[in-house]
Parts: sequence; structure tokens; C-alpha cells
Amino acid sequence: MKTLILNGSPRKSGVTAQILGHFSDLLQTRSEIENIYLYAEEIKPCRGCLKCRPDKTCILPHDAAHDIAFKINESDLLIFGFPTYWGNMPGPLKNLFDRCVPVFEYIEGFQIKKMQKGKKAIIVTSSSAPFPYNQLPSQSRGAIRSIKTILNAGGIETIRVVNIANSKNFDQKRASVFEKINHFINWKF
Ligand SMILES: Cc1cc2nc3c(=O)[nH]c(=O)nc-3n(C[C@H](O)[C@H](O)[C@H](O)COP(=O)(O)O)c2cc1C
Repeated sequence: MKTLILNGSPRKSGVTAQILGHFSDLLQTRSEIENIYLYAEEIKPCRGCLKCRPDKTCILPHDAAHDIAFKINESDLLIFGFPTYWGNMPGPLKNLFDRCVPVFEYIEGFQIKKMQKGKKAIIVTSSSAPFPYNQLPSQSRGAIRSIKTILNAGGIETIRVVNIANSKNFDQKRASVFEKINHFINWKF
């Protein structure tokens, strides 16, 4: 099994990074793992030309979006972690997804092909909004809905969502969050 862990937070030791680090440690013995810190990658924005529809690849000069697209194609399990920003995902992660349209779907005539069928994903997001406000569509719920739109387009099954509310108090919750993740990973893999 190959796992790609993508950190879409700018904070290298933030809540997202800590949770993704825990997933990485746990999966070490069960999977080949690659960790990507997205904020260190150079990714030009999508130009909206949609040449990727017929070409199956982005026509922009080669950059990290092409490399990450290749890695998504190669992986069985995808773990996307990111803080909730304005009820959505942070810009660099959205930018990557915009550059990866043909990685997720391909249109042939009237048929839409889901390009990543059979793969699984885990979503991790945190927000400063406390429970139950993180459940509002304008908060983490919006961010989760947004990434699920993309994953669903690719036919990827989301097997777990980890949503940390009131992230300022994560220190007090870390042990119980990690415990739940341990149970899930031991049960699933
Ligand atoms: C630009 C920006 C927008 C944000 N928008 C929201 C928001 O809509 N809702 C929310 O609850 N927190 C919001 N936050 C707070 C972050 O989600 C929170 O600090 C997060 O837990 C940080 O995660 P990290 O430690 O993994 O980087 C925002 C923070 C920034 C910098």
C-alpha cells in the first residue's frame, strides 16, 4: 500500500501537522509513506484554459502540481490535512486541486470518468471555532464539503474525517484525539 500525506497548513508544528505526523508514525509499518508540505512547493495558478480536459494533463510548464498529480495517481490512501480558512480550504491546497482536474475526472462525450475509483481518503481539518459552531456551513463543515466535492469527482471514498474544533485548546485534547486515530487505523489496516 502507498500513502500520500499532504499538509496544507503553513504552520509546520500546528494542529494539522501534529495530527498528520501521528498518522504518518502509525502507518509507517503498514504502508509506504510520502509526506508533502504543500507550502514549500511552487505551484502556478490554474489559467482556466481547460486544455487538460482533452490532453489529460495540465499544459502549464512543469512544476510541483505535475509531480503531486503523479503521486496522487500512484497512491492507494490519500491523507489531506489543512486548517479551515474562511469556511474552506487554504488557497495553496485549492490551487493544487485546480491544477489537477484531469487527475480526478475525465470527460468523454457525455460520460464523466472518475479517475481515482477504488482509492480511499482521510480528511483532517481544524478550526478555531468551538463545537458546535465548527459544524456550521460557514466553518469546517464548508471546508469538508468543499474537499469532498473534489474527492467525490475522482471516485475517492472518504473513510474518516478528523475535525478539531477550538484548536487553541488542542494540547488538552491531543491524547484522546490520538487514541481515537489509533483505534481507527488498527481496525482499518
Ligand atoms: C486566513 C485564516 C482564515 C481562518 N478562517 C477560519 C474560519 O473560517 N473558521 C475557523 O473556525 N477558524 C478559522 N481560522 C483559524 C484556523 O482554522 C485555526 O487557527 C487552525 O486550527 C490552525 O490550524 P493549524 O495549526 O493546523 O495551522 C482561520 C485562520 C486564518 C489564518
